Amino acid sequence: MTCEYRCGNACFHKVPNTSSNAYFGDVAASAFSRRAALQAGTVLALAGGATSALGQGAAAAPPPHAPGGTAVGLRFEPIQQQTGDAFTVPPGYLHDVVIRWGDPIFSDAPEFDPENQSAEAQLRQFGYNNDHVGLFDLGRGEHLIVANHEYSSEPMMFPRYDPENPTQAQVETAWAAHGLTVVAVSGEWRGRRSRALDPVLDHPLNRRLHTSSEFELTGPAAGSELLRTSADAEGRTVLGTLNNCAGGLTPWGTWLTAEENFNQYFANADAVADPTARERLSRYGATGGESGRKWERFDARFDLALEPNEFNRFGWIVEVDPFDPTSTPKKRTALGRFKHEAANVQIAADGRAVAYMGDDERFDYLYKFVSDEAYVEGDVAHNATLLDNGTLYVARLTGDSPASQIDGSGTLPGDGEFDGSGEWIPLVSGNTSHVPGMTAQEVLIFTRQAGDAVGATKMDRPEDVEPSPRTGAVYVALTNNTSRTAAQAEEPNPRAVNKFGHVLELVEAGSDASAATFAWSIFLLCGDPEDPSTYFAGYDKSQVSPISCPDNLAFDDHGNLWISTDGQPGTLGTNDALYGVAVEGRQRGEVRQFLAVPAGGETCGPVITDDRVLVAVQHPGEVDGASYETPLSHWPDGGSSIPRPSVVATYRADGKKIGHA
Ligand code: FEO
Ligand code: CA
Ligand code: CA
Repeated sequence: MTCEYRCGNACFHKVPNTSSNAYFGDVAASAFSRRAALQAGTVLALAGGATSALGQGAAAAPPPHAPGGTAVGLRFEPIQQQTGDAFTVPPGYLHDVVIRWGDPIFSDAPEFDPENQSAEAQLRQFGYNNDHVGLFDLGRGEHLIVANHEYSSEPMMFPRYDPENPTQAQVETAWAAHGLTVVAVSGEWRGRRSRALDPVLDHPLNRRLHTSSEFELTGPAAGSELLRTSADAEGRTVLGTLNNCAGGLTPWGTWLTAEENFNQYFANADAVADPTARERLSRYGATGGESGRKWERFDARFDLALEPNEFNRFGWIVEVDPFDPTSTPKKRTALGRFKHEAANVQIAADGRAVAYMGDDERFDYLYKFVSDEAYVEGDVAHNATLLDNGTLYVARLTGDSPASQIDGSGTLPGDGEFDGSGEWIPLVSGNTSHVPGMTAQEVLIFTRQAGDAVGATKMDRPEDVEPSPRTGAVYVALTNNTSRTAAQAEEPNPRAVNKFGHVLELVEAGSDASAATFAWSIFLLCGDPEDPSTYFAGYDKSQVSPISCPDNLAFDDHGNLWISTDGQPGTLGTNDALYGVAVEGRQRGEVRQFLAVPAGGETCGPVITDDRVLVAVQHPGEVDGASYETPLSHWPDGGSSIPRPSVVATYRADGKKIGHA
């Protein structure tokens, strides 16, 4: 059910990437190996000199580990794998629901009433299926939460829902339930020691953005003929943002939110006659016939036969200024168009902004964007231009072990590591295309095909890509890819039928985020640690928690990586969860499970501070057979209630810091 409503059953369709670019890179082309980098002290240089995501020098202190002890920040008692309809936290921790689907964010909104839900009510309430969560500190105990509402699950949202005949009221409510929320929350009123947070109704920054809100296309592809429609002859103004999955906060205080499986909202790709247009649609997973939600019956722009370019106006990274509630969010075309999972910004050695991005599809690619201009602290107007001008790159990874040693089993090659070198292949710089046969605007709008043309490396669903603010090393969550065969196994994606996914570690040459080359190694090969194909950075596998399908990543203030999962029910038979793992020091690879979400749910968010861990519980109880009439979860309200996607705060019962002894 989640497959159908979230991503239009992407995994049941044929792989959209039918390009013939090679699976095996040219080992001889390797110019920069991770081992050489380590020997040259590059990693040490990173720890001492990298610029953090906040544009400040990173700490040069040694990794925060007590001798023989678990890393600071991860000193909680790991929980066991869970299967129940409960949100589970470690002993000594409490959790509290911050905001649920349908909770008002304005005082003129009605209280949530699923029997009588309307678009009018939903537009003033928290949307459905929260995914990315970002947190800004407003001071005085107040914070600003920014949250994505990735998709609607109509059979679970609406009483008596008929998927063949949705009503106009249901469709309009779903449009309102998609999109974004900006909402202030406060922890003040519960007393000094409580870490619980509650929405601040009518806060001046509270805002809903949805399928009918205006978004501006900016950057080199804005205004392209390929982006013009009958409603927008200029190709610059789009209504709505769709399937916003994860995202990131920029050093200049804005929010990046990623349009992912937008293809599922569009109907009748088979009615498009032009072969070039059909090929482009196919590469982005557009299918023929009616769409799953049948929105095209209520708005012709979702009918590709009538409005073929509307499709091209989704699949972008969107930048929102949450501190200006009157601002028009920007779809930044310079960052390319694909099934964007997220975007996370690191400041390069010379001050330029570098955004790391994954295209979440089996056999699709890893990207980065490097701005032309440098970030200037405090210059809001200048920083607002950074993501419109720059170069978009796609990654090609090469292994350093003989191909014969990569047999698809996950067995480490003779040199003891899945590792090698990589290069960032430029695709487009402003109005200059680097891809033969494609214009700059075509590269930006059909970025997947540009990646095909230059021989990018086909990855196992690149999701969140997160640079460490402490070391500058970049971590890539590769969720899974059961379609990869043994013949297609290669050192960066070494397992055939990769059910459990892996996490890649990438070190840019010269410690510089704007570098043209990098070294990489596999940090985790996920799964049950008793499975011989798993690998936890060499850490003792008897001491780690099982983990599968890594999705969203975050760092805590101590440099530990936190990993949320999407897919443990179908792979480990347990609920999705959140883990912390040290990436430095003697405990590198010690994966510890912190929390688990209720059955059927996915762990999204996450935000880790010393005070709280925030996660979004997406699609709780969304399993085959569940519906509004037959809910298979009653979380969070209990009794016979329907489940409600919600943001949850977890904190210490004694008020002390997360993960400290
Ligand atoms: Fe919406 Fe790639 O997860
Ligand atoms: Ca190797
Ligand atoms: Ca995700």
